Amino acid sequence: MTFVNENYSKLKAGYLFPEIGRRVTDFCTKNPDANVIRLGIGDVTEPLPAAIVAAMHKAVDEMANRESFRGYGPEQGYSFLRDAVAENDYRARGIDVSADEIFISDGSKCDSGNILDIFGGSNRVAVTDPVYPVYVDTNVMAGNTGDGDDSGRYEGLVYLPVTAENGFVPALPEEDVDLIYLCYPNNPTGTVATRETLKTWVDYARDHEAIILFDAAYEAYITDESIPHSIYEIEGARDVAIEFRSFSKNAGFTGVRCGLTIVPKELKGKTADGSKTNLHPLWSRRQSTKFNGTSYIVQRAAEAAYSPEGKAQIGELINFYLTNARLLREGLESAGVTVYGGVNAPYVWLQTPGGKSSWDFFDDLLQKAHLVGTPGSGFGASGEGYFRLSAFNSRANVEEAVQRFQQMIA
Ligand code: MLT
Repeated sequence: MTFVNENYSKLKAGYLFPEIGRRVTDFCTKNPDANVIRLGIGDVTEPLPAAIVAAMHKAVDEMANRESFRGYGPEQGYSFLRDAVAENDYRARGIDVSADEIFISDGSKCDSGNILDIFGGSNRVAVTDPVYPVYVDTNVMAGNTGDGDDSGRYEGLVYLPVTAENGFVPALPEEDVDLIYLCYPNNPTGTVATRETLKTWVDYARDHEAIILFDAAYEAYITDESIPHSIYEIEGARDVAIEFRSFSKNAGFTGVRCGLTIVPKELKGKTADGSKTNLHPLWSRRQSTKFNGTSYIVQRAAEAAYSPEGKAQIGELINFYLTNARLLREGLESAGVTVYGGVNAPYVWLQTPGGKSSWDFFDDLLQKAHLVGTPGSGFGASGEGYFRLSAFNSRANVEEAVQRFQQMIA
């Protein structure tokens, strides 16, 4: 018989969102007439911006002609897109990132999991708690943890609680860690990191020769001008950080798939004999071997996100979802619920009314109001007693959801 990767058996029953999907399907089967509004998974609902659709059509037509047809592209991405990212997301903000440090991919979820391929197995890994489950589960799959306990915490990982008590700012780890996952604006809490907070982390990483894996998938939602969009806005970060970005939540690419990873040329890790080695060639080698590049059509679509029309249309989309977030936040607050996030992020994080457990509240909300959210404990033990609502939905559904929510807890 063939041996399997037994690390998978350490994983909790199911990835959080499929588990929610299973419960909702079960409810809908038993209640076929219920008009269920889904504010669970952060999946966009609005159509692609017109400039992006036009670019996709044009690229499809190019693929239909012998002269302009493209086969395999560069595994790291076409230079037209890498240049556009470097110019618009970084240089325009005065951030030092060059096009050849940008690796185009099929999404930041994939990259944030795949990145473990270039790291050794004996790193001490720190995650915030609650946290985007992909960071934890991919470390479990890679064998970087021991078993999980009933609260969902895995032996060997260092958990950094982020709760109302510490203002959702993780304390530096008490022990030395080598890899640190940070996500800002944060999924799931919808909170942001100030320049000072990020500097603290960059300084820690420099002092401890650690690497920060910085997930900036939601940076387009930052409304406060003092909040950094990139870890590289912090001096010294190029020596200690990898950054992930996504077209999912700004340009609506959750189904189209495109993201990117920045690996600065000076970023180094160490080998068993203590010598230092650059990570940029390792990630390039990894991508060349295991990935054949994002499709030409999708990369042309992503490029259009940086055209003047694309930027304006994406701005409207972001404002639309941020208005949804505001309506959710204000609607819940007026019902006496304690709410966080939702200002610089498309997620609203609330304290479960009446001190209910996160999953009990999930069931209540589904049964009584036909609303779906995400239980905070699904993101980690410190998420217990909290609940996440996503602002990704139509205006009509968000308004209806607020009304139902208010009626339920009145
Ligand atoms: C979420 O709901 O947390 C996100 O949609 C997950 C993701 O982007 O993969």
